[in-house]
Amino acid sequence: MANSTSGYSRRRALALMGAGAGVAAASTALPTRFAIGGQAKVRIGTLLPYSGTYTRLGQAITNAMELAFDQGGGKLGGRPIELVKVDSEAKPPKAAELTNKLINQEKVDFVVGPVHSGVAMAMAKIAREENTMVVVPNAGANQVTGPFCSPNIFRTSFSNWQPGHPMGKVLLDEGKKNVVLCYWGYGAGKQSAQGFKDGFVPHGGKIIKEIAVPFPKVEFQAALTEIASIKPDAVYVFFAGGGAVKFVKDWAAAGLKDKIELVGPGFLTEGVTKAQGAAAEGIRTTLHYADTLDIPANRAFRAAYKQAFGKEADVYAVQGFDAGLLIRAGMDAAGGDTGARAAMIKAMETTAIPSPRGQWTMSAAHNPVQNFYLRQVRNGVNEVVKLAMENLSDPAKGCRM
Ligand code: BEZ
Repeated sequence: MANSTSGYSRRRALALMGAGAGVAAASTALPTRFAIGGQAKVRIGTLLPYSGTYTRLGQAITNAMELAFDQGGGKLGGRPIELVKVDSEAKPPKAAELTNKLINQEKVDFVVGPVHSGVAMAMAKIAREENTMVVVPNAGANQVTGPFCSPNIFRTSFSNWQPGHPMGKVLLDEGKKNVVLCYWGYGAGKQSAQGFKDGFVPHGGKIIKEIAVPFPKVEFQAALTEIASIKPDAVYVFFAGGGAVKFVKDWAAAGLKDKIELVGPGFLTEGVTKAQGAAAEGIRTTLHYADTLDIPANRAFRAAYKQAFGKEADVYAVQGFDAGLLIRAGMDAAGGDTGARAAMIKAMETTAIPSPRGQWTMSAAHNPVQNFYLRQVRNGVNEVVKLAMENLSDPAKGCRM
């Protein structure tokens, strides 16, 4: 799917306005609340992977954002909503063209995306220049809320530095000092590894080898053979989506499961434990979410998500849901007028998001300040073991707003 104006918009339009009103052509040209004969739709453009190794991430984000809109009565600041979905394919070389298409051809009011850090780099540069409202529901590129930070760019997920950072302390507290790093060799993998190192090396940990695997390749045999010969105390890895499924299965098949501890940011086991099966059991990771977080907002969210989509929610769904809540907060404060930027931005900066992960706040650089948990896969569920770091904020190096 390259580009579709569908899903939420079509279903909502049919439900709310009748089948003949599915596309309001005039709405795209009007900057304010009103279109001839009715209210203009708020156009939400998604730049997310609907194909490739990150497909299930893009789908979870989209599903849960629609759920947040539905729970808000299917309107933003009183206006109906139209989704314009574009498949990023998680391919950075396509990002500039697709971002320009959403902003300049589709004339969306908000861009929601992406998942991949390389796509985020291209998108953020353009969104800054065009002054388009952006909500990043996954991609962790540190730069987005670092040197590229901007009043119009918000993130509801994490910076790549954050999720791996608490794992350094977890390992050191257990006397595990010699670690091998293995990751997809693009921005997210490298920055995740750096986040881990910053919590590990200054306190006595040693990195004895770094192995980078080109994204999105999933041929891990050479890396596994090398790791087996090194015999470190633990291996910290960054893989997600389809790549995480393959790595965890290959790890077990290589006989490493009960010999060397495998850890990482929680993407290693998020949304994929079913596909990983027995190979995932016992794996410990750190993340800003866990399936078993025992708070009312999480219980309600998981039940609603399962009912709507017939599957379990995961962190990507939570981040998409929160993107929907954040846009709702901004549009409500603006009274539905996308031109009322100051009110919209102020609300998005200051609203404490009642998230399934627990309430979190936006940092000055527009990145979540949030708790990180040590989790473990038990019976296919990412269970909370303990709070690993409370209210962890990204350093936001280079952000000047
Ligand atoms: C990233 O590219 O930023 C990313 C992708 C998947 C999971 C986490 C981060």
